Amino acid sequence: MTNESALRERLCEHGRLLFGRGYSVGSAGNISVRLPDGVLMTPTNSCLGRLDPARISKLDAEWRHVSGDKPSKEVFMHRAVLTARPEAGAVVHLHSTHATAIACLATPGENAPIPPLTPYFVMRIGRSLPVIPYYRPGDAAMESAIHGAAREARAVLLANHGPVVSGASLDEAVYASEELEEAARLALMLRGLPARALTAAQVEDLLQTFG
Ligand code: 13P
Repeated sequence: MTNESALRERLCEHGRLLFGRGYSVGSAGNISVRLPDGVLMTPTNSCLGRLDPARISKLDAEWRHVSGDKPSKEVFMHRAVLTARPEAGAVVHLHSTHATAIACLATPGENAPIPPLTPYFVMRIGRSLPVIPYYRPGDAAMESAIHGAAREARAVLLANHGPVVSGASLDEAVYASEELEEAARLALMLRGLPARALTAAQVEDLLQTFG
């Protein structure tokens, strides 16, 4: 099996798991994976729970669609992150409920809408989670806004829309997006309660050790 065909299989497997956990419903969400000669991307209007490895969209190094079904309308979003972060190997965009709830509460321009409650949130997402202003899904204008923020952050939240999370590999991007969703759930669950967040020194220690 070539590396690309293994990645296609893995992409479908992650889609199934994310969908199964309710992190994506209907045809919401999209995933991209960097290849040596371009990018694999989930097709537009596809259900993450029922992806077909042979129908995954393939784009070339100039982001032109070369095979598979028509790519996600969020190609600008994925391009923004993958070009801003040369070290990123994959990007996951979800409408997962709790992260999206935070995206509705947070103010665009905010940099840390979820407190550092747990180590894995800090280890997977890092210090910042910039909140990008609202754009219509598929709007090319979001590209420069996301690109600017993604240079300094592994993940961003699109106001009233949802999270966009990168990782060095497909597995890492998926794990980080799951961790973000759980951190958002905890933050909402503990809202108004005297929850203890990690201290700045504890956050720094995690970033130095695992960052
Ligand atoms: P696509 O079906 O085009 O990937 O769009 C789904 C989505 O999540 C829009 O933000």
